[in-house]
Amino acid sequence: MQVVIGIALVLAAASVAGAGPLDTPGAMKALNCSACHGFAGQSAGDTMPILAGLWPEYFKKAIADYASGKRPSTEMEPYAKQVIQFGVDDYAAYFGGLKREPTKIAVDATAAGRGRAAAQPCVICHGPDGRGDRAKLIPDLAGQPPGYLKNQMMLFREDKRSPGDPSLKAIKELMKSLSDDTMSDLAAYYSSVR
Ligand code: HEC
Ligand code: HEC
Repeated sequence: MQVVIGIALVLAAASVAGAGPLDTPGAMKALNCSACHGFAGQSAGDTMPILAGLWPEYFKKAIADYASGKRPSTEMEPYAKQVIQFGVDDYAAYFGGLKREPTKIAVDATAAGRGRAAAQPCVICHGPDGRGDRAKLIPDLAGQPPGYLKNQMMLFREDKRSPGDPSLKAIKELMKSLSDDTMSDLAAYYSSVR
């Protein structure tokens, strides 16, 4: 209910204010993502990924994977199907055009330091600061909430994110070699990169 009121207020404000951030086609379509991902894709929670600043190519792959059931998520599958129905390019352009504000979820500096030291095997793909590689569809981890990052690592380790995908074999093997504590440290590190 609160979300519905929030959206109504936003719409009212937008119509009064005239030209503004809601003027792209994707902005209106994306309003119902804010229930989980926060307004303008700036998730405030620990477990929901920030969508602001996702590269359109990676965004589109993620949506396609959820919609087909390849990346299983009971929460995302219906929304991904809706996104494709309403036009994925508009959503991808909207979120891709927003600047990611790093999560405000605080991490323990000692854990982040340990994570930085443990991140050596990730550098080859995610780069020295976890910023990823747009052309290779390797996501930018910097500033994402720590709970989301750790959860995805665990899903890789258990082969629950895109199960059986041969292109993710190497990253899953790597995750199998990491303890829960090391995953927490890595999540703290990448989350804290500015
Ligand atoms: C009911 C809550 C909910 C709503 C509403 C929702 N999402 Fe999500 N979204 C999630 C969850 C939970 C995940 C993480 C799922 C997983 O484990 O892969 C996620 C993940 C994603 C990701 C993957 C991000 C990454 O870094 O890989 C994208 C992209 C995404 N959502 C887009 C959207 C869009 C666009 C909308 C609106 C049309 C939307 N979501 C609405 C819950 C939601
Ligand atoms: C062989 C290349 C490779 C290596 C090595 C690698 N990754 Fe990744 N990582 C990827 C790719 C590719 C994806 C996106 C997978 C997809 O499209 O579903 C990804 C996704 C992720 C995600 C999910 C991000 C999101 O937004 O959903 C996390 C978290 C992650 N990697 C952490 C790590 C960590 C930590 C390490 C080191 C321990 C690591 N990765 C090593 C290639 C790699």
